[in-house]
Amino acid sequence: MNYFVKDLSLSEEGKRKIEWAGRRMPVLTLIKERFEKEKPLQGLRIGCCLHVTSETANLVITLKEGGADCYLCASNPLSTQDDVSASLVNDYSIPVFAVKGESKEEYYKGIEEILNAKPQITMDDGADLISTLHSSRKELLPQIIGGTEETTTGVIRLKSLSRQGKLFYPVIAVNDAYTKHLFDNRYGTGQSTIDGILRATNVLLAGKKVVVCGYGWCGRGVAMRAKGMGAIVIVVESNPLRALEAAMDGFWVTNLEEASPIGDIFITLTGDIHVLRDIHFKRMKDGVMLANSGHFNVEIDIEALEKMSVSRRKVREMVEEFLLPEGKKIYLLGEGRLINLSAAEGHPPEVMDMSFANQALSAEYLWKNRGLKVGVHPVPQEIDEKVAELKLASLGLKREVLTSEQEEYLASWELGT
Ligand code: ADE
Repeated sequence: MNYFVKDLSLSEEGKRKIEWAGRRMPVLTLIKERFEKEKPLQGLRIGCCLHVTSETANLVITLKEGGADCYLCASNPLSTQDDVSASLVNDYSIPVFAVKGESKEEYYKGIEEILNAKPQITMDDGADLISTLHSSRKELLPQIIGGTEETTTGVIRLKSLSRQGKLFYPVIAVNDAYTKHLFDNRYGTGQSTIDGILRATNVLLAGKKVVVCGYGWCGRGVAMRAKGMGAIVIVVESNPLRALEAAMDGFWVTNLEEASPIGDIFITLTGDIHVLRDIHFKRMKDGVMLANSGHFNVEIDIEALEKMSVSRRKVREMVEEFLLPEGKKIYLLGEGRLINLSAAEGHPPEVMDMSFANQALSAEYLWKNRGLKVGVHPVPQEIDEKVAELKLASLGLKREVLTSEQEEYLASWELGT
């Protein structure tokens, strides 16, 4: 079997981590048990470009139990858990191409390896697999029946591809399912981003001024959790509705010009480029920390920071110090790559359970419904609702069932005042 991992001898540790996460993923476990019996993915090859974590391991094991041949590469050069990739190869015979800290060349080599396996379904987190297919590996496009996309940034890229009329096959936007973004993006990113910053720096959040750039579902989660730990949270947002929402959620809302000289910790979660740049670095205080939790490492203009600095050195495992000519120091965390996966372990399994249940069921849906029209599709509502039902049941929670009188009332217009 062809693979690229750091060290196969890490597999025992990796297997324990995979099992630990699996115990906290009851919905995916139920799907795995059904897949074992029914083998609904028999004969299917799936190419996955995802963060290689213990939660992702449980997803690819589920797909394999369903009868699929799965191939996995990293969706970020710094998010791979090397023990997990070792175990997937050693204990589960799943080809993995991912090493934490790999070069850009190695990262794209991993994507090429997945494509060389001629997948019929692509599973992306950030759309790098799909964009490679649509640019340098077009010859493989006709054999693909569909794809899925895990994250907001990936869905934005796909919609752009589709708008330009260049998207070649149907893709399900898993990110947009309620049981994905309301939980994974909000509570997952909220907790894991704070986790990453604390693991990288070991600083006290209470009393710090934390500037959260972006008030989408991820930003909402981070702002909420930073506030919960006693930080004074400042929200920077370009969309007027979201900025207003942040204000009414109780946050201090302003622009970056004003926030730059105030903040102690800056966190970007916008999906956009150069959110923090030279004009802001110039105004920042000595000792500020910069972290990104958006998908790509473009939100902090690291090149500009480097250009302004007289030196740069590593001061902790995930912290680099930039020394500016006037003696001011700015600290960059996790190379500006998503801090929750570079310095911590990503979202906890309890939320990835729902995200990856949507992925597994969407792959099954694509395989069963071959010939869907080309475009970006929502996760079918029955899948979203099924995932929520199963999650509620796994938590031992009951929901209210409406009487037929109540159902009829909601569907009627006749009764008024
Ligand atoms: N994205 C964010 N957290 C993740 C995790 N734990 N596993 C896979 N993808 C993720």
